[in-house]
Amino acid sequence: MRTDPADTAAIERSLEIASERGGDLTARVYEVLFGRQPEMEALFWRDTNGAIKGEMLMRVFEAILDFIGERRYADHLIQGEVVTHAGYDVPPEVFATFFGVVAEVVEKACEPDWSQAMATAWRRMLADLDHYVTHGKLRAVSAGS
Ligand code: HEM
Repeated sequence: MRTDPADTAAIERSLEIASERGGDLTARVYEVLFGRQPEMEALFWRDTNGAIKGEMLMRVFEAILDFIGERRYADHLIQGEVVTHAGYDVPPEVFATFFGVVAEVVEKACEPDWSQAMATAWRRMLADLDHYVTHGKLRAVSAGS
């Protein structure tokens, strides 16, 4: 189901405020993520200068904007990334943790202007994203192997 236009507006606004106020959220997102899933940090061993983490988060924000808007590619991208990332030893469950961490960091960056509408919109989007993580191509791949 497509994102409700009111939810799209609330999420877009929250991202605007977060980028105006929070600046680059990359360091914060990965700090919280690695605090919660310490075993993920080592998987970025190739990322000696932070470029991969930065690039990845940028793609994630772009995907979120597409997902809540026209949804031209983000649903397929997420399903595909679950499979690609299994090759990096990233389990699908971590995707839900990761999107949740992004939501928390955006919320913190928006304070004190984080609204109930933003909270509801993000909660609904996280549930919707989770559907694509858990109903992805990985199941089909492992079922066929
Ligand atoms: C929709 C969600 C995601 C997208 C779109 C995404 C996208 C990407 C992209 C584009 C890269 C390559 C970046 C580059 O080489 O410049 C990458 C690398 C990587 N991602 Fe993600 N990612 C997602 C979720 C996750 C999650 C949840 C984790 C778990 C922590 C993760 C862990 C990694 C790791 C460890 C690499 C580095 C692999 C390497 O050594 O090259 N990703 N991701």
